[in-house]
Amino acid sequence: MARAAARFVCQDCGAAYRKWQGRCDGCGEWNTVVEEIVREATPRGLGADKGRSIDLVDLDGPALNAARRKTGLIEFDRVCGGGLVAGSALLIGGDPGIGKSTLVLQVLGALAPSTPCVYISGEEAVDQIRLRAARLGLAKAPIRLAAATNIRNILTTIEDSGPAAVLVIDSIQTMYVDSLDSAPGSVSQVRASAHELIRLAKRVGATVILVGHVTKDGMIAGPRVLEHMVDTVLYFEGERGHQFRLLRAVKNRYGPTDEIGVFEMTDGGLAEVANPSALFLSEHEDGVSGAAVFAGMEGTRPVLVEIQALVAPTAFSTPRRAVVGWDSGRLAMVLAVLEARCGLSFASRDVYLNVAGGMRITEPAADLAVAAALVSAQFDVPVPPDHVVFGEIGLGGEIRRVGHAEPRLREAEKLGFSGAITPKRKKADPSRKKTGIVAREMSRLQELLEMLRPD
Ligand code: TYD
Ligand code: MG
Repeated sequence: MARAAARFVCQDCGAAYRKWQGRCDGCGEWNTVVEEIVREATPRGLGADKGRSIDLVDLDGPALNAARRKTGLIEFDRVCGGGLVAGSALLIGGDPGIGKSTLVLQVLGALAPSTPCVYISGEEAVDQIRLRAARLGLAKAPIRLAAATNIRNILTTIEDSGPAAVLVIDSIQTMYVDSLDSAPGSVSQVRASAHELIRLAKRVGATVILVGHVTKDGMIAGPRVLEHMVDTVLYFEGERGHQFRLLRAVKNRYGPTDEIGVFEMTDGGLAEVANPSALFLSEHEDGVSGAAVFAGMEGTRPVLVEIQALVAPTAFSTPRRAVVGWDSGRLAMVLAVLEARCGLSFASRDVYLNVAGGMRITEPAADLAVAAALVSAQFDVPVPPDHVVFGEIGLGGEIRRVGHAEPRLREAEKLGFSGAITPKRKKADPSRKKTGIVAREMSRLQELLEMLRPD
């Protein structure tokens, strides 16, 4: 027997309650708990009926490698771990207007000549999608198209019209399962719709790409549960005023999770950026104080970005610390270490830190580059020209070694840099091959101050 039951579900994290409450205990958000009506089967025990016995197999046996379909968009394939996997579900999240629909349409456009593709949009009319395709130069791509939101109809269509190898649902928040009473976009609808689509993917061996919106604090809207259900979660991100877009894998059952793909927005759609460092540094000027070039790693790829700092006398009783593209907690730590271990005071000064180009850095290896930018801004002395910087800073003021020193230096050399400020390397490290870069190796933060201190 089915019975209708009311429950109260947080639209942010999916936590369910019996009674309404103003604040969700799960995620701490206010006013996100909403009543949802669900028809659920009356809970029963298993009773005396016996189940069917499941075949258990040995761990030691042949494992089939997941069949992959390369899209031909190299940046996209890299982030997916080498292409789309048949029978898997992939979620692409991002802010509204960031370019998700454009990206998926370009992916389908690249696949369509060889693979049956279906694009279902719950947000745009067929005409709008055709116009976009024309703008992207994909008007003739053999993509099958529909504007629909009812999951039951979508499943039937896919099964009847011969299975699609790749199915795009844009977006999962607009879809609904007609056996549920709650509104599209609510947690139970999003969860149920995704569940049906993922089952379809496994059943017919298709790849399902779900597009999802992100809430103000950067989570895939509604349910984080969605992230658990799919095999791969990619985030499409970038600063609104910038033309760069980054595709970042945050979960991938079929590949690494630290890869990024870099795209540039153009009138004709997203263009792949094969050499992101050159793009991020295109406006970098030598000889300006308060800037340091960080030699970072994104997944397997070295990426050079400029870190800018501004230190100015404060007009407030509590000085401001503003960060774009980096972690503010880490900035506080680097400032504290500079104060406590090197005697450099920022107490009556505002500090602004910016990662140029709209890039977001998560590596601790950026500590030293941030410190170099801060010290350079404070002393008003530029970091030596043609130098890159990387290294982690410890609370004692020591500079710690970080991984992938070689690829970082090689990338810097490729882009015309001649020097580097790096952590001290191990004496006999046979893995270190020679690059043409002259490295100034440091083991303590004080050495950086000595180098930049004006006479
Ligand atoms: P859209 O793909 O619709 O974003 P989303 O699906 O994430 O909401 O793109 C938003 C707008 O940006 C749209 O008007 C088209 C424009 N755009 C470009 O002009 N060039 C590009 O390369 C991209 C990605 C978008
Ligand atoms: Mg869209």
